[in-house]
This record gives sequence, C-alpha cells and structure tokens, in this order.
Amino acid sequence: MSNATQRIQDAKNTLGSDLVILGHHYQHDSVIQHCDLTGDSLELARNVAGLSSRYIVFCGVIFMGESAALLVDKNQQVFMPDLDASCIMSDMAPDPVVYNVLEQLKKSGKKVVPLTYVNSSAAVKAVVGAEDGASCTSANAGTMLQWCLDRGDSVLFLPDKNLALNTADVLGIPDAERRVIDITRGGRNIDPNVALGAKLLIWPGCCAIHSIRMKVSHIEQARAAHPDCTIIVHPECSPEVVQAADVSGSTSKIIKYCEEAPAGATIYIGTEINLVERLMKRFAGEKTIIPLQRSACKNMAKNTEDKLAFLLEDLVQAHRSGTPPKAEPVTVDDETAANARLCLERMLEACS
Ligand code: 13P
Ligand code: SF4
Repeated sequence: MSNATQRIQDAKNTLGSDLVILGHHYQHDSVIQHCDLTGDSLELARNVAGLSSRYIVFCGVIFMGESAALLVDKNQQVFMPDLDASCIMSDMAPDPVVYNVLEQLKKSGKKVVPLTYVNSSAAVKAVVGAEDGASCTSANAGTMLQWCLDRGDSVLFLPDKNLALNTADVLGIPDAERRVIDITRGGRNIDPNVALGAKLLIWPGCCAIHSIRMKVSHIEQARAAHPDCTIIVHPECSPEVVQAADVSGSTSKIIKYCEEAPAGATIYIGTEINLVERLMKRFAGEKTIIPLQRSACKNMAKNTEDKLAFLLEDLVQAHRSGTPPKAEPVTVDDETAANARLCLERMLEACS
C-alpha cells in the first residue's frame, strides 16, 4: 500500500460520514479506488443532490465540481483535489460569447432555446437557464434536444458539435435543418437569419480526446484485425466514427455494454484511456477489451492520489480544529447559481 493510499484511508476513517468522495469514470485507478461513488456525468449529478455529507470531494473536472456545488445544500462544501482541472471543450464556449450569440439570434424574431452539454461552465449554464434553456449529458442528449425543440422554433446546442450532430442523427433532424454557427468576433459576427431556416444551431466546439484522436481508419484497422469484434465509442467522437462503430454511448453505457457482452467477445472502445484500461483489467481472461486509441484527458489526470491525500488531511485538520479548511471550495456566486441551477434542474426533472 502506498503512503498516499494509507493517508487517504486514515482520513476517510476519521471523517466517516462527514466525507463522501465522487469520481468520474475517467479518473485513474489510483484515485477511483478511494471513491465512494463513481459514474458518468448524469449519474454523478443525480447522486450529488441526495448526499448529506458535509464535505463532498469531487474527482473530475471543474464543470463537474461546479455542478455539484450548485446541487448541494448551503451547509455542504465541494472540494476538488486540483481546481485547475478544466475541460478543453467547456473552455470553447466562454459565457460572454454565448450571451452575445443568443442576443444576436433574438433579432431573428424566432424563439431559440439554448441547450448546453453539462461540459460547460456554471456561468454558461446561467446564461442558458435565463433563456428558458436546459443542460444535457451524453446519456440524455436525445431526450433533452427534443425537450428544447418542443419549446421553441429552434435550438442552439453548445459547446459540442459532434454530440449535437450525433444526437440530430438519432432524432432524424435532416442535414438541411442544421447549421454550425459562426462564433468569431465574440459571437457578434453571427447572422441572426441563420435561425430562420434551421431547427438546430450548432456551436463549433469539440473534445480533442475523442474528436481528433479517434478516426474511421482506426475502426477499419480494428475490423481487419478482429473481424468478429464489436466497437463502441463515446458520442463526442465525430459522426463518421460513430456511424462506423456498432454502438455509441456515455461512459456508463460503455461499461454496461462490456458487462453484457458474451464471454469471449472482443470489444474495441473509443474513449478516454483510464476507463478502457480499467475495463481491460476487469474483464481480463473473460473478454478482450482493446482501446481504439490511447487517448488521455490531461485535465482529468490532474487529480492524483497524492493531491487527494493532501486535501483530505486538510479536511481532517479543519474537522478537528473547528476551523475552515485551507483548501478552496468550489463556489458559484449566488446570482450565477440561481439560473445555472435552473438549467441543471430542468434536465434532472425531465430525465428523472
Ligand atoms: P460522460 O457523461 O459520458 O461520463 O462523459 C463526460 C465527458 O467529459 C466525456 O468526455
Ligand atoms: Fe472535457 Fe474531453 Fe476531458 Fe471530457 S475528455 S473532460 S470533454 S477534455
């Protein structure tokens, strides 16, 4: 047992039910082993709302920590092992640009309902919440896109272009009704008339880990090497990759797919490497799991076991002395929080 492992176990024993540790599936095994709850973005958001622990430690990226901070009670605090764990896709939609785009689109006279992937800042969720919009995850994007279509003339889907296109394919929205929007000049270059002919307006954001690293040629190579294999990819991959694969789905759907596959199956997985390696170990000798590509999220990796140990020891010290922890909690100011919470709660209610 490593020194950090022991320190974390000691801290967990001391804090007992005052502490709960949540971890996203992309965390490294050295961190996941300490998590009380693991899940995809939707499951983690759902679970956080029912927690009663005083200290909630979130091992994931900052948008996940912020969502947790929006959903807990005032007497609870959310901490992360590394507050610098951002998400490159989320950073592609700065809130002032989202605001400007929506203001421009209003000039079309059409009701444009914004739908933000949870991979967005609390500030963006607040802008979306204030415009009657909602959030979605990769697990419920179809339901939430339909929810928004039912409430307006068109939908602005942000920030993930691939998830928007893949979800449009599922709902059968024709190509002619989709437009990728121009977000140059801080969103002021956009032509409001783009909302007149299109049901789905799409933000040009992406996740390099899925969008750039996973290619159709990898799928062709996999099928050539193992003609009997099946291939599952995350819907942040390009539509070409999703169409060439057999199945697409959230990180939890990927896990379930491996669990339900028959013994002896060969499964290629197109998503972040920590999850794929965990599944390779879990099913070793029973099913063959192969990464479509070795693609790692550097931000998820910022949460290390050492940083977790350091954070928990700080919480123990605070707990013993009755003083606030030295670690900075994840906070969202009250004004932002009100509308950002609406944005998240609309999703949680629609997909309960
Ligand atoms: P899931 O909601 O599928 O866990 O995905 C989160 C994410 O950030 C994928 O890159
Ligand atoms: Fe963001 Fe991509 Fe990392 Fe997911 S894998 S947290 S979308 S950068």
